[in-house]
Amino acid sequence: MNNSEKIIDAFPSSNDFDINKIRADFSILTETVKGNPLVYLDNAATSQKPTQVIEVLDQYYREYNSNIHRGVHSLSQKATDVYESARDKVKNFLNANSTKEIIFVRGATEGINLVAQSFGLSNISEGDEVIITEMEHHSNIVPWQMLCETTGATLKFIPINDAGELIMEEYAQLLSDKTKLVAVSHISNALGTINPIKTIIDKAHAVGAKVLIDGAQAVPHTRVDVQKLDCDFYVFSGHKLFGPTGIGVLYGKHALLESMPPYQGGGDMISMVTMEKTAYNALPHKFEAGTPHIAGVIGLGAAIDYVNAIDFDAAANYENELLDYALSKVDQVEGMNLVGTAKEKTSILSFTLDSIHPHDIGTILDDQGVAIRAGHHCAMPIMERFCIPATARASFAFYNTHAEVDALFDAINQCREVFG
Ligand code: ALA
Repeated sequence: MNNSEKIIDAFPSSNDFDINKIRADFSILTETVKGNPLVYLDNAATSQKPTQVIEVLDQYYREYNSNIHRGVHSLSQKATDVYESARDKVKNFLNANSTKEIIFVRGATEGINLVAQSFGLSNISEGDEVIITEMEHHSNIVPWQMLCETTGATLKFIPINDAGELIMEEYAQLLSDKTKLVAVSHISNALGTINPIKTIIDKAHAVGAKVLIDGAQAVPHTRVDVQKLDCDFYVFSGHKLFGPTGIGVLYGKHALLESMPPYQGGGDMISMVTMEKTAYNALPHKFEAGTPHIAGVIGLGAAIDYVNAIDFDAAANYENELLDYALSKVDQVEGMNLVGTAKEKTSILSFTLDSIHPHDIGTILDDQGVAIRAGHHCAMPIMERFCIPATARASFAFYNTHAEVDALFDAINQCREVFG
């Protein structure tokens, strides 16, 4: 029996999602770590890549590696076509209105920084307010702190309750005609809470504020329709969506992006440059200065093809089953405390275990081949809110199995034994 057979189980599922077929697409899942089958439960940090994505990247570099938007030669034209067709895939994936609304960036972090620097510096000034939440990732805190420091605007935080849910009454109190922007994560990376973003967006619009949604943790788990949501900006990273690192997407409403100044200057974002002045390129190129991450964009397109080809709703249901299965086991472990118990929650099991430091938990679990993240998860304010320095976090993807959840809990129990 090889390691992959050891970990693939035939746990009865309430839907007909074919886990064995899915796992066969992710060859890394057959790797071993310290002599044990890899149990990869660090999907919130980055997800694994299916063969279909790896092959598309390989093909680009082997067969048509070339710069885009610049060459008359065949290779460059092919690279340009595939790059731009990936933009179309992203547009459809988010149900945006136009490819002009899809800007390729390095990741969710760069998308947020772009909005803070471009939209923020031109629309937010002293006396204005920006609202975020206590559960944001640092990437959705620091750019706003920097903006507020520069402009004299004030940053306000929507508080959360002990379950890790936003206190919506407090949000309503924070909103006023001073609010210029609300920036909120769709799903919390540290807690797994699914935020009521439609309500948040509608309430912000009622006072004339714009809304940015950080979807880094959401796109691998839930369908997103930016037109239905009516958000002004939506960002996500490719590497959490089974695509390459170093590539991400900023969606912005066309009129807003049109009104915003460029973020960075350089090649491709111009239509004409003289020694006196520059005329900028049309959207979306105005925001894509320099040679972009061509392979990354092409790989992201392949990742979107991949999630479109599987039954995404069945995958989401399967993930919820896995989370429920894991949650049902928590009470059986003495000293295990969940951090983040929201009613609307997905794919993340953040916990503490007696007084064992999460880094020690992570190390002991690694000895069993179980990969989790330990630390503050780039969300220090949420740790402060719960008065803890860190948590251990297992995070699931649709290729994980019930047997892997069992392996996680076996390793947690071993950890308790080691620390007495
Ligand atoms: N933001 C990523 C995480 O939650 C890296 O682990």
